[in-house]
Amino acid sequence: MARLTIDGSAIEVADGTSLFDACRLARGEALPHFCYHPDLSIAGVCRLCQVEVEGMPKLTIACNTTVREGMVVQTRSEKVRKASQQILEMHLINHPVDCPICDQAGECGLQNQYMDYGLYDSQVPQSEKVLKAKAQVIGPEVILDKERCVLCSRCVRFCNEVTKTGELGIFNRGDRAEIGVAPGRQLDNAYSVNTVDICPVGALTSRDFRFQKRVWMLKSTDSVCPGCATGCNVRVDHEAGRIYRLKPRRNAKVNGSWMCDEGRLTYKAVHAVDRLTEPLWHGQVVAWAEVKNHLARVGGGGFALVIGSAHQSLEELWLLRQVAGTAATSGGLAGSDTGKGDDILLSADRTPNRGGLAVAGLAEHSATELAALIRAARGAILVHGGDPAAAPEVAAALAGRDDVVYLGTHLGVTARAAALVLPGAMWAEKAGVFVNRQGRLQPFAQAVARPGNAREDWRVLVEMLPAGAPAAPTSLKALRAGAGAALAPTLDLDRLPQDGALPGGEA
Ligand code: SF4
Ligand code: SF4
Ligand code: FES
Repeated sequence: MARLTIDGSAIEVADGTSLFDACRLARGEALPHFCYHPDLSIAGVCRLCQVEVEGMPKLTIACNTTVREGMVVQTRSEKVRKASQQILEMHLINHPVDCPICDQAGECGLQNQYMDYGLYDSQVPQSEKVLKAKAQVIGPEVILDKERCVLCSRCVRFCNEVTKTGELGIFNRGDRAEIGVAPGRQLDNAYSVNTVDICPVGALTSRDFRFQKRVWMLKSTDSVCPGCATGCNVRVDHEAGRIYRLKPRRNAKVNGSWMCDEGRLTYKAVHAVDRLTEPLWHGQVVAWAEVKNHLARVGGGGFALVIGSAHQSLEELWLLRQVAGTAATSGGLAGSDTGKGDDILLSADRTPNRGGLAVAGLAEHSATELAALIRAARGAILVHGGDPAAAPEVAAALAGRDDVVYLGTHLGVTARAAALVLPGAMWAEKAGVFVNRQGRLQPFAQAVARPGNAREDWRVLVEMLPAGAPAAPTSLKALRAGAGAALAPTLDLDRLPQDGALPGGEA
């Protein structure tokens, strides 16, 4: 351990800690910075994080300095403040004054630092600024505005160190230096939008989000990406019931600071035109008040087969098992929703909760097995989520039956084959827990309202509990208490830490 004094307070940190991290601890907030990023190598190029260290003749950058026993450091002295102002002035010499039209306004590091440390008169007339290219499309997801770049090299380091694809570089020198794609290349790796997240200014912007919304209009809700079994921690940015983007939320144990581009687009399914928004009886819209009667007509004697899916929350899967009672069960179609994985984050398993199926004791089946289960069912069938009838064998087995109930979110093949269709909620429209590929239980919260008359799935399932089942939960909290006691007795599902937990404790 090393003991040092920062801004007059004594602090003790592990040997080898960077002075930047020690200062963050002591100050309760990070030093001003552009180039430092906790999940990238140290570049030390922006010079913004300068601090005064007793005994050193000049200011030093904290990100590239390691703590030493007995160090006495000032981070808020006049000398430091002056240096920050001068460095900012240097960054602004050639920076365009296009904040009013820049899509980064509201979350721009340069704007924020300027408000904290700037506030001086510019010594460079606007007409003398070096002009560089604006709004260049450099890949399928990203647009580059070279003028705004402060050459922090985060995006270059990301492509070199994380994806190891090396598409970006800094070309030329002096005030002609500019960021760009290597000749003949595009920024087209599967994680390219992370460069937008880490760009501290508006030089890199996302083609999907650009000009969709001013960021100060957005509300953020912590969630988990539903795109694959990795379960990257995300933030859902939304306004007035509409999701505008997903951003990665740092969780060192799951996704670091990153998420894949494919996962970012999973929010589009929430607002898809084929969302189920009303209960349907043989294709006709019916009121929820009538659903009980229709349920009695198809499943009056309970269900003979209940089919779940790896898209539902852990709480729902547990409740589904209670609905099944002694009926046959299936976790849905084995091998459905798979794709190409990689060794960064993306899993070949493109469902968020196959881990939950296993915990809830619902085994998946091949299309042939599932078709056989359907044919053997002497009584109604409940399908919850997924689209098992997308497999032709399953569709053939369901064809002609008029006792199939589908509780789901999109008008897929299974919904079309069902007599009674009940509109459920997507992950962003309800709270729940997913179990990722590590076995980690991760909570997600409701971000937006459900469309039309769609309902939280658990409230619909409760109506289907067979007579004699344990008392129906009347709140999500009660449901979680029941599911948690049965599936994860060491954890409280209602109070999981925001970065999730492993049932056996952290390794
Ligand atoms: S484009 Fe953004 S992330 Fe890349 S070097 Fe410039 S300022 Fe930094
Ligand atoms: S790796 Fe998986 S969980 Fe992470 S963002 Fe991509 S699709 Fe979502
Ligand atoms: S953050 Fe230290 S030099 Fe950029």
